[in-house]
Amino acid sequence: MTTDYNKHGVARQYQQAKQQPWRHRVEAYSFLRCIGDLAGKSVVDMACGEGHFTRRLKLGGASTVMGFDVSERMVELARAQEADDPAGIEYVVHDARELAVDRAFDLAVSAWLLVYAREREELARMCRGIASWLRPGGRFVTFTTNPDLYLFQPRGDFRPYGFEVLVEDQVYEGAPITWRIHMDDTVLDIENYYLPISAYESACREAGFRDFRVHGLELAPAEDGVDDHEHWAEFMRAPPAVMLECVRE
Ligand SMILES: C[S@@+](CC[C@H](N)C(=O)[O-])C[C@H]1O[C@@H](n2cnc3c(N)ncnc32)[C@H](O)[C@@H]1O
Repeated sequence: MTTDYNKHGVARQYQQAKQQPWRHRVEAYSFLRCIGDLAGKSVVDMACGEGHFTRRLKLGGASTVMGFDVSERMVELARAQEADDPAGIEYVVHDARELAVDRAFDLAVSAWLLVYAREREELARMCRGIASWLRPGGRFVTFTTNPDLYLFQPRGDFRPYGFEVLVEDQVYEGAPITWRIHMDDTVLDIENYYLPISAYESACREAGFRDFRVHGLELAPAEDGVDDHEHWAEFMRAPPAVMLECVRE
């Protein structure tokens, strides 16, 4: 069943899940490098959750940053952090499958949004919604579950990194992909859905995007300078996430 981020405790658990080392070493490093220069840009963070990346986009030099999420609880957490430490970010409750009203951002980003589309029609609505936030020539960059994880032989073993990715025996469109995140005192299951990369590409094209590209993940250098590539080898052999980029016509 689709993860309910409004359910008691889930939003807080997710906040805790963002503390795992791979979030910093691979997720944030790859995503922010793919997003690139933020200076002077207006940016919308779609499915912003509690603002994990939204704050980093503003700190990274974006001129205007707005975050939206369909979960009221997530937006509440994001606003609470904005109240504690104001960065000038506006957070709103909004469903990415709906069109924006009168908006023209330079850049639209999302970490973990497209994976909530279970079938192509829902994905098409989402991509039309995303396009509606951008000015012509504006970029969309997203970090998402790697649908090709079904193809890796052997399948990836992510337990050394604090999570598992549970998939069906046979792949089919809409198949659930469960991220089981193990934390000290709790386990959080997040359900995503499989659609092939070709479905993402055609939905983006039909929504008015061009120059669709797929980017692989990168590993940030270790802060203490110790070579730990061996530890990360399995993660990078069977990368569980991928980044997509395209430009609005
Ligand atoms: C895994 S969390 C990611 C949050 C944040 N981007 C991050 O990386 O920390 C996924 C988020 O997507 C949001 N979401 C799912 N479907 C959505 C939709 N149709 N429109 C807007 N947000 C959505 C959920 O409420 C949840 O906050």
